[in-house]
Amino acid sequence: MSIFSEFQEQGFLILENFVSPTICDQLRQQTAKLVLEFEPQTIKNIFTTNEQSRISNKYFFDSSEKINFFFEENAFDNEGNLCQSKELSINKIGHALHELDIVFKAFSYSNIIANLATELALKNPAIIQSMYIFKQPNIGGEVNCHQDSTFLYTEPEPVIGFWFALEDATIENGCLWVIPAAHKLGLKSRFIRSTDDTTSFKILDNTQWDLTKLTPLEVKKGSLIVLHGFLPHLSYANKSTYSRHAYTLHLIDKNWYYAKDNWLQRHNLPLESLFIKS
Ligand code: FE2
Repeated sequence: MSIFSEFQEQGFLILENFVSPTICDQLRQQTAKLVLEFEPQTIKNIFTTNEQSRISNKYFFDSSEKINFFFEENAFDNEGNLCQSKELSINKIGHALHELDIVFKAFSYSNIIANLATELALKNPAIIQSMYIFKQPNIGGEVNCHQDSTFLYTEPEPVIGFWFALEDATIENGCLWVIPAAHKLGLKSRFIRSTDDTTSFKILDNTQWDLTKLTPLEVKKGSLIVLHGFLPHLSYANKSTYSRHAYTLHLIDKNWYYAKDNWLQRHNLPLESLFIKS
């Protein structure tokens, strides 16, 4: 069975040793540098102002073309100061690392990724977003069961997620869990950004997931998990004393329709084909 057939059948793939340990470490080191250079006070107003929701929404929307930092819940106290070190407070970085950071760009536009996109039947692949996810020791929060196409809706095919384990992902530190083959049940909701920049969920199907079928995907550092945009997945809180860093990309085909009411819109950064820079 080709990997594309397996992907269509299961809704996910696990490709072990996809990324070398050296590259994993390079991406981690580059992230440590970005965090070191980042000054949390520059965005503390986002979390303390009375206009919190409007300003935090803007910071979120603007991240489509920036390298923005997002914190764990309750990372700041009432005065806007971090409760613990910034290195241990950041939940994720997004969503244009792959365009704006030289190390992440080199990796994201490398041949191994473009070639895999081709094997997955993308004719004109492009990366719509990237994220670096920390899943911090002890405080890395749970991510509820969701489908990525809820947030990045495309037609006629769904977005494809690439989830690179930069460290071993285990049940203890909050690995991914999926409901195998449940992508065939279709999309249950869409996250809509209205013209006034408010957001809401539009329910397409209000049946519940069969959570008894959730399966943990414990993977070694360097593994790549490929996720179909309709595949329900989640990760539980990290209750261990070690982190679970991952880098993710979401791929679309430039020939597809990309919904104008998706939260993530690009205004200045052109959407490049993966083949242009490889
Ligand atoms: Fe996801």
